[in-house]
Amino acid sequence: MGFRFNDIEESEKTMMNFEEKVKKGGRVYVETYGCQMNFSDTEILLSILLDNGFYETGEISDADVIFLNTCSVRKHAEDKIYSRLNSLKKLKKSKPHLIIGLLGCMAERVKRELFNKFEFLDLITGPDEYRKLPELIRSVRRGEKGIAIKLSKTETYDDITPYRKVGVNAWISIMRGCDKFCSFCIVPFTRGRERSRSYNSIIKEAHCLYNEGVKEIILLGQNVNSYRYNDFDFADLLIAVANATGNTRIRFTTSHPYDLSEKLLKAIASKENICKYLHLPVQSGSDKILKLMNRHYTIEDYKAVINKARELIPEIGISTDLISGFPGETDEDHKLTLKLIEEVQFDSAFTFIYSPREGTKAFKLKDDVPLELKKKRLSEIINLQRKISLNIHKKLIGKKKQILIESYSKRSKDFLMGRTDCNKTVIIPKGNYNIGDFVNVKIKKVNSATLFGTVI
Ligand code: SAM
Ligand code: SF4
Ligand code: F3S
Repeated sequence: MGFRFNDIEESEKTMMNFEEKVKKGGRVYVETYGCQMNFSDTEILLSILLDNGFYETGEISDADVIFLNTCSVRKHAEDKIYSRLNSLKKLKKSKPHLIIGLLGCMAERVKRELFNKFEFLDLITGPDEYRKLPELIRSVRRGEKGIAIKLSKTETYDDITPYRKVGVNAWISIMRGCDKFCSFCIVPFTRGRERSRSYNSIIKEAHCLYNEGVKEIILLGQNVNSYRYNDFDFADLLIAVANATGNTRIRFTTSHPYDLSEKLLKAIASKENICKYLHLPVQSGSDKILKLMNRHYTIEDYKAVINKARELIPEIGISTDLISGFPGETDEDHKLTLKLIEEVQFDSAFTFIYSPREGTKAFKLKDDVPLELKKKRLSEIINLQRKISLNIHKKLIGKKKQILIESYSKRSKDFLMGRTDCNKTVIIPKGNYNIGDFVNVKIKKVNSATLFGTVI
């Protein structure tokens, strides 16, 4: 085929567009820390920037703008950001036009003080102010510092289509903020009041993702159970999303034990494409500590929810979050946590050492469990959970499971990693299979974290 003059003109135009856009906006590199909601926010803010003449780059050395989208949940999360910022200082020296910005929960918590700590920092933006990023960057280019940290009662970024790198799975944030005010937790202060995104826009977005070939959708909120839009609750939304997405797997996180309804459990049971998996953080096995944590349930309530879930959905996988060393936690309280783990037989647990967060209610309590004891209790929790997970996994040897292949194995390109409906990680030999395939596997071997299988 001949080469038309128009093609040259078109390609020159495209080049010019590209160069002009880079001049107008620039190349943005975002590093994201923290929870899935923060990763989902990065997709939203990138979408806003791309609509305003910016480009994303995966190479930090190419960037004109570097953003750290940060987490404040524990002191350790913030310490990591402080040391990352120190390492970026050198880069800024060698490239003076570079803009460095701090976004997300830590920006919201520490606020303007970050400018005093890091004089080379140009911009600070909280989670509800991402629409202002293009304007803030422009003001930095005029020689000012950019700051926007107001929390909103209404912002849900409902009209923004996140900039996703089309893959096997996709997140949809269905709500923002949190009103639970667990006494240890900074999230209500960094993310503001709870608000739900509109029902129809979520279903529409899920349907589009299904049409684009996404195989798994994860609905996100700090407490999805309290989703409410007009007369619709989370169970209604879950069913509607499942109906709009063919055989796409639907997952959700996080559920709070306080308001997990029977209606929701029935919804999970009713649709094949809703994953039979529940992440239900309990935090402690002691009623005394749960009260101090402001969690609004007792261990009896929690066990009743677990029993109901298992009665309605016998195959359900259940994981939890646990904190060790909350103020006032005695050996007796810790033993109650071990007892609960033994009784419930969680599939897995995310475990944390209590970290005091300024501004929370628990911060006023004396952090009276010494670090060494917190660590000792944490390792007892981890060891017990590992033993339980291993026993649960051993029972799966010889069983058939369907997995969705998500990626290559971290260890070798000769193996693929997939997940069962109940969220168990399975490694299989690569064979002729591809990322995004659903395959049936037989489990051959297990350890406490992973299953190993072959395709049948
Ligand atoms: N909204 C979810 C919930 O209620 O379970 C998760 C919120 S938080 C981002 C994830 C987990 O971090 C919590 O479940 C809790 O176990 C842990 N966490 C939160 N604040 C903490 C703190 N100050 N110290 C240690 N762990 C904390
Ligand atoms: Fe934090 Fe509790 Fe809200 Fe979860 S429910 S984000 S732990 S305050
Ligand atoms: Fe961290 Fe904020 Fe998520 S504090 S855990 S990034 S909501």
